[in-house]
Amino acid sequence: MTLIDVENLNVGYGDLQVLWDVSMTVEEDESVIAIVGPNGAGKTTLLKTLSGLLEPTSGTIEIFGEDTSEYSPEEIIEHGFVQVPEERNLFDDMSVYDNLRMGSYRHREQFEETREEVVNMFPVLEERRNQHAGTLSGGEQQMLAIGRGLMAQPKMLAFDEPSGALAPQLAERVFEKIEEISDDIPVLLVEQHVDRALELADRAYLLENGRIVTEGTGDDLLESDHVREAYLRG
Ligand SMILES: Nc1ncnc2c1ncn2[C@@H]1O[C@H](COP(=O)(O)OP(=O)(O)OP(=O)(O)O)[C@@H](O)[C@H]1O
Ligand SMILES: [Mg+2]
Repeated sequence: MTLIDVENLNVGYGDLQVLWDVSMTVEEDESVIAIVGPNGAGKTTLLKTLSGLLEPTSGTIEIFGEDTSEYSPEEIIEHGFVQVPEERNLFDDMSVYDNLRMGSYRHREQFEETREEVVNMFPVLEERRNQHAGTLSGGEQQMLAIGRGLMAQPKMLAFDEPSGALAPQLAERVFEKIEEISDDIPVLLVEQHVDRALELADRAYLLENGRIVTEGTGDDLLESDHVREAYLRG
């Protein structure tokens, strides 16, 4: 089965068209698919459209074999496609524990069991269990946002710039966790850290000005002249 099948997607904000005829797939045997591209290319717009937060003007979206273009954001999550958004959207005045609880609202009866798996992966979320999310460090907040996404028991997890605004060492830890997660759950990874994302990816798409301009294996893109000149230093 094709996990994600997007065809000829056109999306905009009012009169401003942002995505132009975007087509992309994620196949069942793929662990990490990356979407890379510069600021303003439309990466977040694409993820928001997949998550049901934006309505396309035309094109088709199938997730796990179902046409989800009319689904609400809640229905998309229920269907198993879960996004860890760029702005993290944590509940700052709630504890780490309660933020995790909010993530599991559809699977309350399995809350403790799932939480155990999540804190095994991110021990800091147990250490900081009663601390307000707003007072966590940037890296801890990103771990919590990922942990909350996992609490929804996703069939696929999408990350929007998970390394954004993190110091290099912390960003590297986040990438390691994403690699670990991708052993069990297919990952759609949006990143501006082009080199690191391409290293992780089975396959990747380069989005520029709202259009897919290149597609290939992570290694293909790492070796392409255009990617090297525009996105990789040295
Ligand atoms: N709510 C909005 N209303 C109008 N225009 C928007 C809105 N959100 C985004 N845009 C515009 O759409 C374009 C694509 O934005 P988007 O956030 O998808 O880019 P991005 O690739 O995620 O960039 P970044 O790497 O900076 O996160 C930009 O030109 C942006 O200004
Ligand atoms: Mg973005």
